[in-house]
Amino acid sequence: MKDWIEGVVTDNIHWTEFLFSLRIEADVAPFKAGQFTSLALDIGGERIARPYSYLSSPGQQPVEFFFYAATGGVLSNALIKLQAGDRVWLKEHANGFFTLDEVPDARDLWLLGTGTGVAPFYSIARTPEPWQRFENVILVNAVRNGEDLQYLDLIDELRETHGDRFRFQAFVSREKVPGTLSGRIPSALADRSLETAVGLELTPEQSQIMLCGNPGMVADSIELLKQRGFRKNRRRTPGHLTTENYW
Ligand SMILES: Cc1cc2nc3c(=O)[nH]c(=O)nc-3n(C[C@H](O)[C@H](O)[C@H](O)COP(=O)(O)OP(=O)(O)OC[C@H]3O[C@@H](n4cnc5c(N)ncnc54)[C@H](O)[C@@H]3O)c2cc1C
Ligand SMILES: NC(=O)c1ccc[n+]([C@@H]2O[C@H](COP(=O)([O-])OP(=O)(O)OC[C@H]3O[C@@H](n4cnc5c(N)ncnc54)[C@H](OP(=O)(O)O)[C@@H]3O)[C@@H](O)[C@H]2O)c1
Repeated sequence: MKDWIEGVVTDNIHWTEFLFSLRIEADVAPFKAGQFTSLALDIGGERIARPYSYLSSPGQQPVEFFFYAATGGVLSNALIKLQAGDRVWLKEHANGFFTLDEVPDARDLWLLGTGTGVAPFYSIARTPEPWQRFENVILVNAVRNGEDLQYLDLIDELRETHGDRFRFQAFVSREKVPGTLSGRIPSALADRSLETAVGLELTPEQSQIMLCGNPGMVADSIELLKQRGFRKNRRRTPGHLTTENYW
């Protein structure tokens, strides 16, 4: 089938019962940080494919993806069982416009993700571009439980490389975890507790915001931010909000 290439799994990292990452050796075409490709497995004689954001940055091998095995989900519950040496289909060419070349310049770049929706932000943050174009980069990951906060080694690496220009804020909604905010991103935008915790103000003049993951988080955040003068970023009418819904 056109554009499908075979990759070989080098690692399946099980972070929790449902959260996992795959590292895959695959000869994919060059992509932009923030883009997604499709992964697929042949299940019951049918090729089952879904889109997944690259967590690895352009040029890195093996390529890496971060998954949640969705309740009853066909593909994610098959991918979680893969082991080193197993084969998986990937679309050779990536897709999508959730990339920095769609984002206008500003002082601060805010990257807001729920669950595995942080994946494209790790890809973006480990390229030079955000650091050439923005003074501050703020990464926010909202998860249900503390154990869902993964890739903390990459957070440490970004802190070491970029110092105070990089800020990370976690939300944990279903238990109390020291050092994290409780609740959800939209309510912390409404009462400005996210800005207080990060130490930077969100303003349409100074901030570009990328939002990724749970469509409810994306919609509720946009609604609140529109009331504060933020607008969706469109090619013909540049704004401040760039989004990717995972379902
Ligand atoms: C552009 C794009 C990029 C994506 N990138 C990723 C990614 O990097 N990592 C990833 O895990 N998923 C990602 N997804 C979601 C992914 O494509 C699948 O929908 C997901 O893996 C479920 O597939 P499934 O066949 O197991 O279940 P399905 O039967 O297709 O879905 C079952 C249900 O699971 C829920 N769900 C779907 N995705 C998630 C998720 N990520 N976290 C929590 N609940 C979810 C939804 O309610 C969905 O209706 C992305 C989706 C899009 C559109
Ligand atoms: N089998 C299982 O036991 C099990 C367990 C967990 C998850 N799952 C599956 O995985 C999916 C959830 O995965 P996930 O936890 O990575 O993602 P998620 O449901 O998107 O939750 C991630 C974070 O987003 C928050 N959120 C949810 N809806 C929001 C909204 N409208 N606005 C703002 N924030 C919102 C959640 O807060 P809240 O906590 O307040 O919702 C949580 O903090 C479910 O669809 C389910 O299929 C299965």
